[in-house]
Amino acid sequence: TNGEHPSAAIEADATGGADEATRQPISTVVIIIAMQTEALPLVSKFQLSEDTDGILFPKGVPWVRYHGKYKDLNINLVWPGKDLLLGVDSVGTVSASLVTYASIQALKPDLVINAGTAGGFKLGRLSTGDSLDMSPYDEGAILANDAVIKDMEGAAVAYVADLLSVPAIFIKAVTDIIDGEKPTAEEFLQNLVAVTANLDQAVTQAIYFINGRCLSDL
Ligand code: ADE
Repeated sequence: TNGEHPSAAIEADATGGADEATRQPISTVVIIIAMQTEALPLVSKFQLSEDTDGILFPKGVPWVRYHGKYKDLNINLVWPGKDLLLGVDSVGTVSASLVTYASIQALKPDLVINAGTAGGFKLGRLSTGDSLDMSPYDEGAILANDAVIKDMEGAAVAYVADLLSVPAIFIKAVTDIIDGEKPTAEEFLQNLVAVTANLDQAVTQAIYFINGRCLSDL
């Protein structure tokens, strides 16, 4: 890991100010989700269809875009897909920044939502690093920045969304208590499916809330 990158990312960061765009109803959202287990319930909930034409992203990449509508809102859910060599979900900051960049360029969303699971201590500030386990260095950075949630994508999505001036919100559901008794990976896998149901509910409520609203309402 390169260490934890703190990001005050739990609350809406609709930074657009009072310009015209922030007073128009939000029309397009991109939801970035790293794991298939997290993504598929939302795909079926909103009856999103998978892109099959392969024109949105560079040829050969495993990135998957699902799209559909909820009322007036165009929903795009982008999942980085399975690693082509290893067959596992492409979690972490590298894929998250690439798909966020490509999705913003291609889809010009009004808002990015990064949804996923995270490890938690209690409610509050999010930190991001490319390691599920917490190394001593990461622990120092997390504590120094008062972060109390630990994920593997949030700060990467925040970085790219900020670079491209697109507001982003972060919805994280806690699968494991980092400073608890159980090994993180074990607790994570044990809770993944149940916690994902909560995550999907939270994302669904966010979509219901966003529909018909402007960035300045968030
Ligand atoms: N996702 C779920 N649990 C996590 C943890 N403990 N660290 C980083 N990402 C996670």
